[in-house]
Amino acid sequence: MAASNASVVFLALIIVLVVVIFILLGICWKFLGPAILRRLLRPRRAPSDVPEYFSGNMSGNLRTITYFDYATLKKATRDFHQKNQLGRGGFGPVYLGKLEDGRKVAVKQLSVGKSGQGESEFFVEVNMITSIQHKNLVRLVGCCSEGTQRLLVYEYMKNKSLDKILFAGAGAADGGGLPFLGWRRRQQIIVGIARGLQYLHEESNLRIVHRDIKASNILLDDKFQPKISDFGLARFFPEDQTYLSTAFAGTLGYTAPEYAIRGELTVKADTYSFGVLVLEILSGRKNTDLSLPNEMQYLPEHAWRLYEESRVPELVDGRVQAGEGFEAAEAMQVCQIALLCVQPHPSQRPAMSEAVRMLTMKTDQSIPPPLKPAFLDRKNLKQEGGDGADMTALEMRSPTSYWMMTPSPMVDRPYDMSFGK
Ligand SMILES: Nc1ncnc2c1ncn2[C@@H]1O[C@H](COP(=O)(O)OP(=O)(O)OP(=O)(O)O)[C@@H](O)[C@H]1O
Ligand SMILES: [Mg+2]
Repeated sequence: MAASNASVVFLALIIVLVVVIFILLGICWKFLGPAILRRLLRPRRAPSDVPEYFSGNMSGNLRTITYFDYATLKKATRDFHQKNQLGRGGFGPVYLGKLEDGRKVAVKQLSVGKSGQGESEFFVEVNMITSIQHKNLVRLVGCCSEGTQRLLVYEYMKNKSLDKILFAGAGAADGGGLPFLGWRRRQQIIVGIARGLQYLHEESNLRIVHRDIKASNILLDDKFQPKISDFGLARFFPEDQTYLSTAFAGTLGYTAPEYAIRGELTVKADTYSFGVLVLEILSGRKNTDLSLPNEMQYLPEHAWRLYEESRVPELVDGRVQAGEGFEAAEAMQVCQIALLCVQPHPSQRPAMSEAVRMLTMKTDQSIPPPLKPAFLDRKNLKQEGGDGADMTALEMRSPTSYWMMTPSPMVDRPYDMSFGK
């Protein structure tokens, strides 16, 4: 009798316990939300529990980088605090992180959740980009994959990105408190970017087309050495989804005409973007600036006109000309090389090794005259009509239809492919 009483009490206790657990779960669900609850209940990977991709015979290049668990990166970035956010691009936000040993890192939180990329695919791609190393490419120091989170950890670049220095302080007398880039530094940056691209295109074992060469993807270390960032990142995103380069969301000014119009992607699309970027570095202005007088709004067009009229010095940032070490002949040569890079047909543009050769040779040696860039024909478009100003970023992902149909302010004038005539 006593035994059966005890088992009834025990059963009742179990039932009460189960009910209490369910009520508690219900409360948590309501107040914390399903996502947080799922995260709390997910078994945690112990810090020492490094994925097997990082050890053993198959580890390859992964052995040279660090595996971070999510909690470490969360702590380093102060819980991915807004104040730690360095910026946000097409791949997701980037945060400044401080590791326990005091090292600063930039943590890129990839928005790959939607693409459903599995852990093994992620590590395969990380392994690939880890093998690409050059002094003008940003170094990957580690990565993290936990649940749907995919994070890449890069060395932190003290002088941030080129766009910030080049454009932000342009209006302010003191340069907006940012360091000023004189002629020698600009030259060093141009040659460094060209060398990084030469490596990606011609020397790395993967032969990578960057696709998104622009000022914000050039980071500067403490000595203002340029480092190309975001190479190989397109590999994390299936062609048809998720990745939305801010090149397309923002300005198309860096995009080679054949890539923008026909989606034709070769290394020469990077050469084109490099040419536009060099013109920006020379002039200290953005490739498209609709606040300027009509004939100056599009940088390659403006540069071409000045080149034709032998007025290249007018293109160069006045502060650079007034500063130390400026050499007009060198600036003219750099401008001519940039114009060679933005020639209309990919085959006309130099390979990056050729660009490096021309950039580093003496000014008394001759370089070929460039052909006129593929100009944008504003008149044609205006006649075709349509108002593309409200076109959404998603629609822009299809460059072909976008270029054919949209006279938006950013791409007011699509390229007339008249090949320099
Ligand atoms: N390693 C780094 N060190 C310092 N700052 C960085 C680093 N990586 C990125 N940043 C900063 O974060 C900003 C955002 O970078 P992100 O690559 O996400 O965007 P983006 O370059 O503007 O666009 P996209 O996604 O097309 O590359 C950059 O402009 C740069 O200022
Ligand atoms: Mg970037």
